[in-house]
Order: sequence, then C-alpha cells, then structure tokens
Amino acid sequence: MSAIIFFKTANLPLIREFYQSKLSFSKFKDQESCVIFNLGNMMLGFCEAKAAEIDGTITIVYHTISQVDDAYNKHIDIALGSPEINDYYKIYHFWARDPEGRSLEFQCFLSDDELTPQISKIKVLNPKAHKHKILITRMIPDNAVNKLKNHFEVHVSQANRNLTKEEIIAEIADKDALLCLLSDQIDAEVIDAAKRLKVISNYAVGYNNIDVNYAKEKGIVVCNTPGVLTQSTADLTWALIMATARRIPEGERLVRDGGFQGWEPLLLLGQDVHGQTLGIMGMGRIGKAVARRALGFGMKIIYTNRRIPKLDFPAEKVDLETLMKESDILSLHTPLTEETYHLIGENELQLMKKTAILINTARGAIVDEKALIKALKEKRLFAAGFDVYENEPEIPQELLDLENVVLLPHIGSASLATRAAMGDLAAENAIAILEGKEAPARVN
Ligand code: GLV
Ligand code: GLV
Repeated sequence: MSAIIFFKTANLPLIREFYQSKLSFSKFKDQESCVIFNLGNMMLGFCEAKAAEIDGTITIVYHTISQVDDAYNKHIDIALGSPEINDYYKIYHFWARDPEGRSLEFQCFLSDDELTPQISKIKVLNPKAHKHKILITRMIPDNAVNKLKNHFEVHVSQANRNLTKEEIIAEIADKDALLCLLSDQIDAEVIDAAKRLKVISNYAVGYNNIDVNYAKEKGIVVCNTPGVLTQSTADLTWALIMATARRIPEGERLVRDGGFQGWEPLLLLGQDVHGQTLGIMGMGRIGKAVARRALGFGMKIIYTNRRIPKLDFPAEKVDLETLMKESDILSLHTPLTEETYHLIGENELQLMKKTAILINTARGAIVDEKALIKALKEKRLFAAGFDVYENEPEIPQELLDLENVVLLPHIGSASLATRAAMGDLAAENAIAILEGKEAPARVN
C-alpha cells in the first residue's frame, strides 16, 4: 500500500514547472489535470481546482546540514530566511514558499552532537536593524562593528579561528556585504555563492586573497585599507631590520636560557645598520615610509618600482639585478600579483651579498621560500626577517630550525590604533557602497 498527499492548485503548469524543474522532484504520473511526484516513501500530488489549497507544509527532508545549506544556496530566491537550528524539534531548516504561497520547509534532523552551539558560530548582533546584511568573518575591533551596526544587520563569526571556505560559502548567500580578512580566500566559488553581494571590504591593504576581476565581472566592488597602516607596518619593518642585523632574538634566547657569561669580545656579532645601503623593492606608501626612517640612520637608499614615484628624500632607482647586488638590507614592499610571485628566487638570491639581510613584511609568496631557506642554510645570506610566509599559517620546519632568521606572525599592522583605524576604514567602505556613494578606498 502507498499513499499520496494531494494539494489543489489553480495553476497546474506553474506548479509542474516549479516542483519538477526547480526542486528537481521526479514525476510519478503526469495527467493533464493532475501531476504526482515520487518522493521515496511518499507521493505528492497536485490537482487542478478553481482555487489553490495552500494550507499545510511540504517538508523536504535531507540527511545532512550541508545538504540543507546547498538547497538554501540553490533556492535563496524563494527562501524566507537563512537556515537555522530549531533545537526544540532538533532540526536544522529554512522556510520557503512555492509560487502559489504554500509553505515549504527544507530540513534535516540533527544528531545530539550537532545540536551543540558550535554550529551557530555566526552571531547576529542586531537582527532586523536594517534590511542589508553584512557578514564579518572574524571579530574585529569594536569601533568598526558598532559603526556597521548602525547601518546593517551584522552577522559576525564568534569562532576563535578563521572560517573555512565552506563556512563562508554557507553564510554568504544572503549577505549584501562581506568584511573579510586577508586569510579568507574569496575566489570565484565564494563569489558565485553570494547572490546579493555588492561589496567585499578587505580588512587589509593587500587584496591578493580576492579574485578582484571576477568580482568586477559580477558587479561587486572590492575595497581595502590603504594609508592607515603605512606607518605601523614601516615601524615593524624596522623592528625586523634591527632584530636581524643585531641578532636581538638570539641574544634574548641566550639570556633567558642562562647563557650570559658576561661581556665577550666575539659574542653575537652582527651587521651595522647605520651607513649601509637599504634596498626597497616597491616604493609605494609603505616602501617610502620605511625608506624615510632610514635617513636617520644615514643610509643610502636604492629601489625598484614599476613607475617613477614622487619622493621627498634622496634615493636612486635601479634595476632588479643592481638592487639584489648592492643592498645590504633589502626590504620587500610590493603587492603580491602574478608579476611579483616568486620574484625573488634562486637566481636573485645568488646575486646578494653574503653579509646581506632580507626583510619581508609584504607577502610571503613574493619570495621562493624553498630557495631562500637553502640560501640561509648555506650562509649565502647573513640573515632574514619575516612577518609573512608563502603558505600561512604554515612555516616550514627548516625555517624554524634556523638561527639566522627572525620570524613574526604577520603583525605588521598590529597596533591598537592602527587596527582600529583599519576597522573604521573597512566599515566606511562597506557603508558607502551600500548607500550608493563613492567608497574611500576602492580597488576595482
Ligand atoms: C597586511 O598584510 C595587510 O595587507 O593589511
Ligand atoms: C659595551 O658595553 C662596551 O663598552 O663595549
């Protein structure tokens, strides 16, 4: 025996098209005045009548949360809200409507461990404040979140870690704005999952994590946070310069390990910084700020740059080969692009002085990390200082094992004031675009 649940419809062709083409239900029978769909153990029928009968709910049951999320992404145009847990019924579900106004529910039953609050990692900070919704992929300073709360319904991740791409995809579908981190990969797949997105506001100056061209194709504006982090990043670059040249972390380790035996003539001899040649690769905002600080150290400045920059200090533009050969300290400040990917590889490293120091506070993949590790191991360079890595957060063990490197956890802009200013700018960018105004810092 089997059973069919029948509904009455006033527009059978519309219903046939919706359930068959949109929801992909398979047909059991299609007669002129009635269509019946096969749903596994059950059948769902619609028959023609003068008026539609829309009472009741058609619940479509899935096996997993991600299937519900997939259904949501597919049917966002008819969804009435995003998927959520109803712990009373122990289900994960969202509601939608069919073209005649019938209630549709897409759901799965949850197991006990799925009911733990970790699934709802995204907290809605001011539900229904405004019809625009923004997703913030990780907690950023309060000033920015508060600013956004005045304008949008703010959804902010409460997880004490970065979201995975799958998590961003599951959250992005119904958001109008995205405020993301440099570690969030916003590629074509994520952008395709975002059905309403108008703006991607990166909480960073670098935006190599975003497929900017694809976003543009889709009419999505990309913004970043230039300017506000220039001085802090230049400060940190100098911290790395001093730390590597004068072997400060090595000295610190020695003292803490109880190794300090008193003044020694040959203890931890480093390289002088004053009076040396500073090479700057990429004379943009940060490159200039690093170079300006070098004037106080009486350094000669040489640099490479695609264009001729406006400079208010003496510096000589050279080619890449000269930069590699003549720099005592070489500091990288180009963005990561197809042209700068592995711009410094084995051949370039071969040109450097044995006493030279390489500093990277830009992006890891500008340097071929393997080639650099080899050069450092073979002592073809004096030292290197890194704030960034090729595959963050992974750092090769070989690099961790070296004494002549100083390793920082991507903290170039990490001062209280600068991170707050970046938050303000990232928030202003998103607000401006959704209000139809010019954004303070637009990329595409
Ligand atoms: C930091 O690396 C940034 O791009 O803001
Ligand atoms: C350092 O204290 C020195 O006098 O060399």
